[in-house]
Amino acid sequence: MENFTFYSPTFFAFGKDTENDAGKYVKRFGGSKVLIHYGGGSVVRSGLLDRVKKSLEEAGISFVTLGGVKPNPRSGLVYDGIELCRKEKVDFVLAVGGGSVIDSSKAIAAGTIYDGDFWDFYTGKRIEEALPIGTILTIAAAGSEGSPDSVITKEEGMFKRGASGDAIRPKFSILNPALTQTLPAYQTAAGITDIMAHLHERYLTNSKDVEVTDRLIEGLLLTMIHEGPRVIENPDNYEARANIMWAGMMAHNNSCGVGRSQDWNSHNIEHELSALYDCAHGAGLAVTMPAVFKYVYKHDVSRFAKLATRVWGCQMDFDDPERTALEGIAALENFLKSIGMPLNFAELGAKEEDIPTLVKALCYGDGRTGSISGFVTLDEEDCTKIYKMMI
Ligand code: NZQ
Ligand code: ZN
Repeated sequence: MENFTFYSPTFFAFGKDTENDAGKYVKRFGGSKVLIHYGGGSVVRSGLLDRVKKSLEEAGISFVTLGGVKPNPRSGLVYDGIELCRKEKVDFVLAVGGGSVIDSSKAIAAGTIYDGDFWDFYTGKRIEEALPIGTILTIAAAGSEGSPDSVITKEEGMFKRGASGDAIRPKFSILNPALTQTLPAYQTAAGITDIMAHLHERYLTNSKDVEVTDRLIEGLLLTMIHEGPRVIENPDNYEARANIMWAGMMAHNNSCGVGRSQDWNSHNIEHELSALYDCAHGAGLAVTMPAVFKYVYKHDVSRFAKLATRVWGCQMDFDDPERTALEGIAALENFLKSIGMPLNFAELGAKEEDIPTLVKALCYGDGRTGSISGFVTLDEEDCTKIYKMMI
């Protein structure tokens, strides 16, 4: 196991009706003037926004609101939010929604107290300071409720890029699984896929003997494989939703990633797809992951075979471990198909002729110099082949 530091100071309130304590938690974590940030309207239609406002009013906390965050959140609304927060002297940002709303909130929280352009943080500058952030999560997926990360798409050029820093870890996150019951099946499935991707990105490591982390990841993957189909079959299954929601947080607050190298090539390859086609991030990952894994499994056959036997219940073929490794990847593919995810370019709405554009943005965007690195370093030729495998 490699040396590491781990700082995860988010306070979690989990369970039914916990959103009604939002005002109490804003006060506890020092907020007096709040920006309530939300998305395209699901929280208005469900009545959640009204309940949150009531909770803040009861706690004597004033607020302004800014809705309209789109999935794959855009830079334009972040600039609007920064301006609003400065004008209204906001001292706390409360995200009510999914990963997109939370990430937009994080960008606003960092940008409000930064003299330069907030986009600097999305081109390599680490976030050291931000307004405090709270979240009320409505979809189990991105894990942004417990992560130090934010992903924003710059409208000029549609570049999707990430920023990071412990300052944008939420001070509190309210997780009520019942709030996710209104999700369309496709969004639920995309969330399940994203959570499983976060676990795979950390399972694919070049560090040896970090068994505690392997076992944590395997346990969370087994949970997703058990609960995913149950929630797709019955969207009102609170217990299944609860297990998925907590697994989503655990998968991405990095408790499953410390002490070892991680991958993130599937995410990097996917981010170009959701930037260009505006598809759901999880759906893009369903297309990306199997292709990446089939391309790189030979780098460490035993790691893939271990995943296949421990998680997917495959029989170890000691004479031909490659066969076991490939069986595990096929089992993942079948699972994703069974929950309604796309598995190829056509189903995602992606086009073969765009591959050179995707590869260029992938290998040269973000200050990269012709390749992406992770479990395996992939150059332009590798990335082109991987995108072609998705056709
Ligand atoms: O906008 P509204 O109307 O709220 O609708 C949303 C949106 O259309 C809808 N939705 C959310 N909760 C709902 C609901 N509809 C009905 N009932 C509910 N309870 O679902 C749609 C998708 O929402 P979004 O927030 O985009 O989903 P998700 O949480 O998957 O977030 C995706 C974004 O997070 C980024 C992705 O790249 C993508 O931009 N990621 C952020 C990470 C992080 N900050 O740590 C890590 C991830 O790997 C990921 O890259
Ligand atoms: Zn993700």
